[in-house]
Amino acid sequence: MEITLWGVRGSMASPARDTAFYGGNTACIELRSNAGTLVFFDAGTGLREAGGSLPDSGECHLFITHAHADHIIGLWFFKPLHLPSWTVHLYLPNWLGYLPDYFFAGGIFPVPFNSLKGNIIQYSIGANEEVCIGADKMRVTALPTCHPDDCLAYRVDVDAARFFYSGDHEIKADAASRAAAREMLSGADIAVVDATYERSDYKEDWGHSTWEDWADAAQDAGVRNLVLTHHEVGRSDQELDCIAQKLRACENTEGPEVYLARERLRFSPEGPIPDVFLESDWMLHFLDELSHYKDENVTLDRILAMVRTVTNAEAGTIFLVDGDELAFAYTHNDRLFAVSDAYKYAYATSRLPISEDSIAGYVAGTGKTLNLDDVRQLPPNVPYRFNGRFDESTGYRTKSMLTVPFLDLEGRVSGVLQLINHLVRKDHSPSPFTLDMVYTARLLAREAGSVIAHNALYRRNVYNILKMARVHDPSETGPHAERVGAVAAELYQCWAEKNNRPIEEIRYEKSRIRLAAMLHDIGKVGISDLILRKQGNLSEEEYRVMRSHTELGASILAEETDSISMLAHDIALHHHQKWNGKGYAGSGDTGRLAGREIPLAARITSIADVFDALISPRCYKEAWAFEDALALLRKEAGQHFDPELVACMEEIRDMLPMIYRRFPDLAE
Ligand code: C2E
Ligand code: SIN
Ligand code: SIN
Ligand code: FE
Ligand code: FE
Repeated sequence: MEITLWGVRGSMASPARDTAFYGGNTACIELRSNAGTLVFFDAGTGLREAGGSLPDSGECHLFITHAHADHIIGLWFFKPLHLPSWTVHLYLPNWLGYLPDYFFAGGIFPVPFNSLKGNIIQYSIGANEEVCIGADKMRVTALPTCHPDDCLAYRVDVDAARFFYSGDHEIKADAASRAAAREMLSGADIAVVDATYERSDYKEDWGHSTWEDWADAAQDAGVRNLVLTHHEVGRSDQELDCIAQKLRACENTEGPEVYLARERLRFSPEGPIPDVFLESDWMLHFLDELSHYKDENVTLDRILAMVRTVTNAEAGTIFLVDGDELAFAYTHNDRLFAVSDAYKYAYATSRLPISEDSIAGYVAGTGKTLNLDDVRQLPPNVPYRFNGRFDESTGYRTKSMLTVPFLDLEGRVSGVLQLINHLVRKDHSPSPFTLDMVYTARLLAREAGSVIAHNALYRRNVYNILKMARVHDPSETGPHAERVGAVAAELYQCWAEKNNRPIEEIRYEKSRIRLAAMLHDIGKVGISDLILRKQGNLSEEEYRVMRSHTELGASILAEETDSISMLAHDIALHHHQKWNGKGYAGSGDTGRLAGREIPLAARITSIADVFDALISPRCYKEAWAFEDALALLRKEAGQHFDPELVACMEEIRDMLPMIYRRFPDLAE
């Protein structure tokens, strides 16, 4: 038997830019037996495309689970219903006999059901009834589900295999409901189930289940392939990607293989059927996403996540070329820490020489790709060595390793992508990377290399602007700006997660705020050295001039229309506003804002900036201790600073020493 997913969305069709990858069509699943018996389950909007793929004559069976619009609306444009050369056996739950006449009439659809040209034979089917169809005597059994309006699930036995489709079904917390779910699923080779929710957004009594509950039930029911469908209507591709990552993390040897339904994916009882078009369009989808990011950290995190998903690698690291060394830039390691913590390690500082003393160093030096089955059993006489320092310091055990170079816009090696321990799905043992993974990783590294190069170009522009400012003000160093940018980015992420912002918004905004915050004091280029470099306190007049650095910075950025400069403009203008309304946005008294009138990014940057000013030496003051600086922020919460953001500063305090080690003040 072969299954094709034509519609994977619940509640209503949601074709949109951010659902294009998994798909926005509602429920429709095709089953074709080895002898060619053709069956569809549910008639959501996916049925239109399913019908379009059919020849001009034939015979098929269509089983409906219930009459919610997302499961029937595709009936209108199902080609076989309109062609006399087709025979369609339409199975409706026995309480829905009225449906065809109602749905194809009465001002809802222009053509009445009885004038459709197809040869349509209508049946009614009830819970626990079984029908036998096709030359191969396929057995289809209807099962009752738990849904506010009645609904059927279907089980199919044919070709010595079992298929199950849940329709809409809610697995409740009680033992009886859980046992019922196990019973329904039992022995299924492929089960396609309603996993609208995660436990974190589950809505009781709405008639849908969480993926976690299906995963539990399928584990005990001996399911081979569990396919999660009926995706929540507002769930974006990036949110579904996050769920896919969680699925991988909780798979185990005894349980089923678990997949997120994606339009046009096909399955046999052995698992997904490879499809070259589906496999190349994820790449386009991904590169499209990458093109929105200007910040290297976000870009690197996404590249690593994607390449690891495709190659099922337990760990991965990106190194970037820096002079004659490789700087460790980003890492994921499922065994050592959660993916959601990976951003904390972005400020780590290890380096490797570009030499034969490590695999990464060799790849960076030569531009070659290395695919090694076991780094501890290298073939004799190879010109490189495995550097086991990382394993020694963490207790991790590297076995298979795929290392691919990144190229910059000039074709020079700009970095290295290293994937570690490809885990086979069944028992999670580290195994060699396959040739198609090598090919995919190289392709992605090539595309990603140019995205990284563009990010770097953008960052260089920011540095060059800062260099101009630094000619005047020795405190406006690169490291100072980097630290303010990094603290602002992490503060933002903490705030956004606490406020349940969608994941794509967090990634995008985090990538903007880091660069924009770096430019907060750009207006100091217009302030006289006599004031900027003055030892000791400023006079009232000098401080008035000093305050104008906010307006000046804003006016420099005002003409730019790219999204980072626009944010940088708001930050430059408002980063000395105070929560209590007593700050400034210029030399005079006008333009004061208070509380949430102050743009969020400016409230964030104000904390990052003052913190850095306090703990750094300035020509007018000594450096403060970390704890004293944090104590001042706490004291000023609700006065100078947004108290919610001061609380976030406490939450990210473990990261602060890492950020400060990563960007130390250079000796002048
Ligand atoms: P900056 O050095 O980057 O300092 C940014 C902000 O950090 C200051 O904004 C202030 O809110 C906070 N801050 C810095 N040092 C201290 C401190 O010792 N104690 C406390 N409680 N807060 C501190 P502010 O005051 O609006 O100053 C803006 C800019 O004006 C400063 O940027 C600096 O460039 C200049 N500036 C401020 N005071 C003096 C001064 O006494 N002498 C000189 N030469 N420049 C000053
Ligand atoms: C490392 O992770 O330290 C690099 C290992 C290697 O490339 O040899
Ligand atoms: C926002 O909702 O994007 C900003 C809210 C705030 O300023 O706190
Ligand atoms: Fe539904
Ligand atoms: Fe400032």
